[in-house]
Amino acid sequence: MPKVIVFGSLNIDHVYSVQHFVRPGETIHPLQYESFPGGKGLNQCVAFERSGADTYLAGKIGSDGTMLLEFLERAGVNSEFVIRSEGRTGCATIQVDENGQNSIILYQGANSQITEEDMDQVFRSFSAGDILVTQNETNATARLLQKARDYGLLAAFNPSPIDAEIDRCDLSNVTWLFINEIEGEQLTGFREPEKITEKLLQDYPEMKIILTLGKDGVLYQDKEHTYSHGVYPTQVVDTTAAGDTFTGFFLGSIAKGEPADRALKLASAASSLAVSKKGAAISIPTIQEVTQYLLKST
Ligand code: RIB
Repeated sequence: MPKVIVFGSLNIDHVYSVQHFVRPGETIHPLQYESFPGGKGLNQCVAFERSGADTYLAGKIGSDGTMLLEFLERAGVNSEFVIRSEGRTGCATIQVDENGQNSIILYQGANSQITEEDMDQVFRSFSAGDILVTQNETNATARLLQKARDYGLLAAFNPSPIDAEIDRCDLSNVTWLFINEIEGEQLTGFREPEKITEKLLQDYPEMKIILTLGKDGVLYQDKEHTYSHGVYPTQVVDTTAAGDTFTGFFLGSIAKGEPADRALKLASAASSLAVSKKGAAISIPTIQEVTQYLLKST
C-alpha cells in the first residue's frame, strides 16, 4: 500500500450557531459558540485515518496549537511532520445557520509560513509511488504540487478555496482532482458537469476527476470509466468538512485497493454521516460506522 502524506492546513475553528448569517452593519448574538479542530488538511487526514488507510499529516501550527496536537494524538493520526512555529495557528470563524449551511472567514496564520526547507524535510521521508494530498489553504500549494513531481509522488489535489494561487498550479502532475461545480467552472469555463470533465480530460488525459454536485451527488470520470452516485438522505446539522470527509474516504478506499465505484459509495455515505453532526474533524465517522450505515440503508 502506498504511504499517504496530507500536507495542508491545520486550523482552530470558532463555530457560531446563528439564526441567520450576520448582515452588513448588524450585530447578533449566536445561539451557541464552540471551538473545534479543523482545517482542510487536518480534516482530510482524519478522514483518511478513519477510512482505515495509513496516513501522515504535515503542516504548520503556532504556539497556540497544542489542542490540535492533542486531538490528533487521540484520533490516532501520525503528526510527526506537523511543525510548530512562532505566531498564531490558522483559525476559521464559522457561522452555521439553522439549515446547517456555513460561511467562513479564514485567517491563515502559521499555514502561510511553510518554507522550501519544511517541504523538503517532509518529502525526503517519502518515496516514488507514495501519494501527496493537498488543498489550497497554505502558502505552498503550487510548490507542493511541483515537489510531488520532483520526488516522484502521485498527487491528489483539492483546489479549495479557489483563488489566484490556483493559476500558478501545474495540474499536469495531478492524478486525482477533487472539485465542486464552482471550482470546475473556474478551471474550465464550463458549467455543465460533463463539459467540465471533458475539458479537463482533454488537457490532462491521465487525470481522475471527482466532481461533487451538491444535492445531485458526485460524478467520477477518468479516460476509461464514468460513475455517478447520489447523496444519502440525512438531517443536515452542519455541512462543514463534508467535502473533506468525502476526499479522505474516497482516496483512503482507493489506497486500500477498492475500485472507484465502491470508493464513491463509501465516501458518499461518510459525508452524509458527517453533515448530520456538528463540527469539522469531530464529525467524521469511522469506517465501521459507514459500513453499518450502508447495511441499514440497503
Ligand atoms: O473544509 C472545512 C474547513 O474549512 C474548516 O474546518 C475550516 O477550518 C476551513 O478551513
